[in-house]
Amino acid sequence: MFEIKENFALKNFNTFGINVKTKYFVPCSSESDITEFLNIHKNMDLPLMILGGGSNVLFTGDYDGYILHPNIKGIEIVNETNDEIEVRVGAGEDWDEFVEFCVEKSWGGVENLSLIPGNVGTCPIQNIGAYGVEVKDVVTKVEAIEIDTQKRVQYINEECEFGYRDSIFKRKLKGKLIITYVTFLLKKQPKFKLNYGNLNEQLKVLGEVNLNNIRQAVITIRESKLPKPEETGNAGSFFKNPIIKKGKADRLKEKWPEIPIYIINENLVKIPAGWLIEKAGFKSKQMGNAGVHDKQALVLINRGNATGEEIIHLARDIQKAIIILFDIELEMEVNII
Ligand code: FAD
Ligand code: EPU
Repeated sequence: MFEIKENFALKNFNTFGINVKTKYFVPCSSESDITEFLNIHKNMDLPLMILGGGSNVLFTGDYDGYILHPNIKGIEIVNETNDEIEVRVGAGEDWDEFVEFCVEKSWGGVENLSLIPGNVGTCPIQNIGAYGVEVKDVVTKVEAIEIDTQKRVQYINEECEFGYRDSIFKRKLKGKLIITYVTFLLKKQPKFKLNYGNLNEQLKVLGEVNLNNIRQAVITIRESKLPKPEETGNAGSFFKNPIIKKGKADRLKEKWPEIPIYIINENLVKIPAGWLIEKAGFKSKQMGNAGVHDKQALVLINRGNATGEEIIHLARDIQKAIIILFDIELEMEVNII
């Protein structure tokens, strides 16, 4: 059975800490709760949105509708061999608690994705990634309920159309599904991925290379650059790192020889948006209650009682400056509500 909460405060349900409320908030802890609620909702006029941990959204005002909060719990082993283990996880499980659980069990595959906020059900939507790993590397299946038909559906990895911070759930299926379970394939003798940034260096400080030390190294690096949402409201990277043609990058390199460039293929490269934003002079910048983090220019912060509009205003100023200076369009990663 689910409860419908009225005039519900969302300040603790969005990591930006924006002080807004929703007309109705509906936590659902089972698939049957979700279908039951959808059956009722189809006769209502008010809109519906899904909210997990609220770490990739920016509310620009109160939500005049229903917010469904999938809260399905549980980690179940569905397959196991000497080398691998497949686990099906409820959408409402906390992502980092799941990572910690895997590391404790010595199941490899998600350790580089330590300390990413949010819920398991959301991880496939933008194909969360960090330190050289993306969740697409370990997801085998995404289960969901279709909002219009209330039918159960599932998508195997190849059907999810995963890309950099992208999937079918952000495109064709946006707003059409409620993800209920995600299944992961983890390795008992994992090959570690240690090439990103200073991960290797940080690991040397800890000694032995094992899952627990990789997790600790990732946590140390992340804590040195990213603000803790409980202390400073933010949603991680506000923009995606732009992917541009190699020719354009070569021209930028003539003007800014120190520009970091990551090769994607022979035609395309990725540029760190944090570098562009810092170069444009926005690092540490404050605009009313909104600001740019002083240790990572890709992270916009709530300096106190910012409204969503103040954050957006700053984001648009940054986008304009980056177009003028580099002729590059920054796409927002955060979902604006
Ligand atoms: P929410 O913010 O609740 O929702 C995001 C979107 O998904 C919304 O559009 C929502 O409607 C939809 N949605 C949520 N749950 C469901 C569901 N069950 N079914 C259908 N739709 C749903 N991301 C990375 O990839 N890498 C990082 O390193 C990283 N670092 C971060 C660091 C910080 C400090 C913060 C605050 C964020 C960071 N993020 C990072 C972004 C964020 O953690 C991820 O995008 C995360 O997956 C969001 O999960 P959530 O449950 O909080 O999603
Ligand atoms: N940089 C600067 N100045 C800054 C920030 C970054 O010059 O203020 C440059 C530096 O050259 C640095 C490079 O950007 O070496 C990359 O920075 P970092 O390793 O911090 O990663 P990022 O590209 O800024 C991406 C993800 C993060 C993820 C990290 C680690 C995106 C949009 N962001 O950030 O994900 O944690 O890599 O893998 O791809 C998120 O999506 O919310 C998120 C935090």
